[in-house]
Amino acid sequence: MARGIRIGVIGCGFYAQNHLHAWKDLVGEGAVLAAVCDVDPGKAQAAGRTFGVTSYTDAATMLANERLDAVDIVTRHDTHRALCELAIGKGVAAIVQKPFAPTWEDCVAIVDAAEKAGVWLAVHENFRFQTPMRHVRRVIDSGAIGTPSWARIMFRTGFDVYRTQPYFYDEERLAIADVGIHVLDLARFFLGEVERISCETQRRNPKVRAEDTATMLLRHRSGAVSVVECTYEARRDPDPFPETLVEIEGDNGSIIVLPGSRMRVTSNGATTEEDIGSPLRSWTSDRWHVTQEGAFVACRHFLGCLRRGVSAETSGSDNLRTYALVDAAYRAAEEHRAIVPAQRKASAAAVSSDRRAQ
Ligand SMILES: NC(=O)c1ccc[n+]([C@@H]2O[C@H](COP(=O)([O-])OP(=O)(O)OC[C@H]3O[C@@H](n4cnc5c(N)ncnc54)[C@H](O)[C@@H]3O)[C@@H](O)[C@H]2O)c1
Repeated sequence: MARGIRIGVIGCGFYAQNHLHAWKDLVGEGAVLAAVCDVDPGKAQAAGRTFGVTSYTDAATMLANERLDAVDIVTRHDTHRALCELAIGKGVAAIVQKPFAPTWEDCVAIVDAAEKAGVWLAVHENFRFQTPMRHVRRVIDSGAIGTPSWARIMFRTGFDVYRTQPYFYDEERLAIADVGIHVLDLARFFLGEVERISCETQRRNPKVRAEDTATMLLRHRSGAVSVVECTYEARRDPDPFPETLVEIEGDNGSIIVLPGSRMRVTSNGATTEEDIGSPLRSWTSDRWHVTQEGAFVACRHFLGCLRRGVSAETSGSDNLRTYALVDAAYRAAEEHRAIVPAQRKASAAAVSSDRRAQ
């Protein structure tokens, strides 16, 4: 068997625990969790102890000391550009958590740097890797509902996300940048690229600085229309957290994803319903399983791509299209109009003309 892919995880906070477990579980498929790093020595040491690897408090030192094939960056977005550029500068592949970086210019700069250096780059966008969402994609691909022309994709919860991510209170952009980004990526995954987007945002929790609710309307290039919703302020019973609920209509039927990972498919007038969840992994918990498992499946996908030397489905350049939707949604809400999402080259020109206008 070819030698394993040696991975260093950067950032050992809340969500990184899922990545660390995922890499450990993927040892049989060629993953080698080689080292961990966190600027907080307590978190670095704790992860090093739990996963039996060397821990570092400085990513540059880890990269200098370890023979890594890839780094998995699970810090918050403000550090992503510097850490990606560090890895790219060393010729080491980089996986970086969403949101890709604080600004569109940062994201494009990272993609440009990776392409120039010929370094593999992926964004850990994981909702499309959740087992239920893969099932939905398979049903669309089977042709059972015909051509999809309308969808509603919803992440609506009142679950206390602030307890594990207290930094949410102070974010300048919240619901769309944190979770809407996943749902927008699903809209692309199910219905293809987007021509224009409009959006209404709301701040329903007065303790939060930014928007906690967004309702978006997308016109896809195929002609399909989707409603993409996200909120941390829903009061629903059952509260489906952390599941994404989906309704897709085609000319021959429909797909409805219900709470509890159940999928109802109507095709040619006949309806079937099935469980599309997957069993708990040793380290996943009932409530969080859907998203934890999504992180695992995403890591498995990245590992396979690294081993085969092919681009990830959520490569840096692919994820620019999801990021552009996030930016366009915020602009749409601010300017009360539909916005055409930026494209890599067109947007570079737009940025310089914006600068000239200032
Ligand atoms: N995909 C998902 O479903 C999902 C869910 C939650 C969080 N996230 C994303 O994961 C990322 C991390 O979020 P979190 O909630 O785990 O944050 P966190 O604050 O709990 O963890 C971040 C860690 O990074 C460390 N860190 C900061 N700068 C560093 C540096 N330069 N080098 C090494 N370590 C550094 C911090 O000390 C901290 O321990 C964010 O981008 C967030 O959006 C994704």
